[in-house]
Amino acid sequence: MTDKQYMKIALELAIKGCGFVNPNPMVGAIIVKDNEIIGEGYHQAYGMFHAERNAIMNCKKSLKGATMYVTLEPCCHYGKTPPCTEVIIESGISKVVIGSLDPNPLVAGKGIEILQNNNIEVVEGVLKEECDDINEVFFNYIKTKVPYVVMKYAMTMDGKIATYTGKSKWITGEASRKKVHEERHKYSGIMVGVGTVLLDDPMLNCRLKNAKNPTRIICDTNLRTPIDCKIVNTAKEIPTIIATSNTDKERQRLYIDKSCKIIVIPKKDNHIDLKELMHILGQEKIDSVLLEGGGTLNWSALQSGIVNKIQTYIGPKIFGGKNAKSPVLGLGVDCPQESFYLNNTKITKIDEDILIESEVISKCLQV
Ligand SMILES: NC(=O)c1ccc[n+]([C@@H]2O[C@H](COP(=O)([O-])OP(=O)(O)OC[C@H]3O[C@@H](n4cnc5c(N)ncnc54)[C@H](OP(=O)(O)O)[C@@H]3O)[C@@H](O)[C@H]2O)c1
Repeated sequence: MTDKQYMKIALELAIKGCGFVNPNPMVGAIIVKDNEIIGEGYHQAYGMFHAERNAIMNCKKSLKGATMYVTLEPCCHYGKTPPCTEVIIESGISKVVIGSLDPNPLVAGKGIEILQNNNIEVVEGVLKEECDDINEVFFNYIKTKVPYVVMKYAMTMDGKIATYTGKSKWITGEASRKKVHEERHKYSGIMVGVGTVLLDDPMLNCRLKNAKNPTRIICDTNLRTPIDCKIVNTAKEIPTIIATSNTDKERQRLYIDKSCKIIVIPKKDNHIDLKELMHILGQEKIDSVLLEGGGTLNWSALQSGIVNKIQTYIGPKIFGGKNAKSPVLGLGVDCPQESFYLNNTKITKIDEDILIESEVISKCLQV
């Protein structure tokens, strides 16, 4: 087998940690000796052993002269667990093949240097693009300390996210909706504006088996969230944050008593300041947010520059109606040159629906 084929196996192991390792990266590792895979492991959950250590611990044979394939550069610092470079050196492994470099300033090339200084041959960049792809959230968080934000919406072929009466169930088919639940498992937080809570009374949970629920975040400047809505009523079981500028302690107490966490955020343009909210969520170890709000919050999120990626699900339907809402509202830009520009577009067909995913080019890059 080739290096790429072995790395592919390590990648498949890495993604088993999806949704459980945040804010750590997904990492997979295998150990090969005489063309035989003699050990494999992956980072299973935040705070648990890293992939390299798990692969070494699962090995029943001598590791002397073996090769390790690992999707991310091994760490060389003490965190929740001791450095992986140490355990690799002690094991007798003689070659390490790496997918991505670790942008964590505590590692960033130092892991490779330590291995080489201990006479271990290192090959880097095997399936680098695929290995980088699985950790877009980690790479962003480790560098910026704010969550990676994915704006997701479902719309009809004529660009409506609800009918003129405000009804939106359903725009897409079952397979697309299952994919949305996979995304809810993958990201640490899910965020909407109070407008969506008032109109839809959603649960915003993940309905897949053996999956985790993201922390629910409601942007609610004036604390208008109904105290008996589904999200507040289930806050004991699923972590829930209400971000508000309302400092009325008595009003706040109503939500706190039902296990919601209140985060007070200053106002900007009459609503909570989303950039400030992202800083605070980053401090709370929320490395990623799936933004499932309506057009009002979507516009503000784009304008404040917090959005990294857009996922547009298109159902083959037409709602029509000049008062039916579209995915991004607000004032809008006044000429096409002022658009928010997107790139790296990926298109996937999901049964009869289409999913378009694009990255947002930051405003300063556009200039
Ligand atoms: N098809 C889809 O994918 C989809 C997804 C979600 C919603 N929807 C539909 O969208 C409709 C709701 O639309 P919506 O626009 O009212 O919902 P929204 O964008 O989720 O909520 C808007 C509210 O969020 C609050 N907010 C807090 N901070 C904000 C900020 N920085 N910027 C902007 N708003 C902020 C504002 O009220 P305060 O300032 O008073 O807090 C605002 O009125 C419903 O009909 C729902 O079914 C469709």
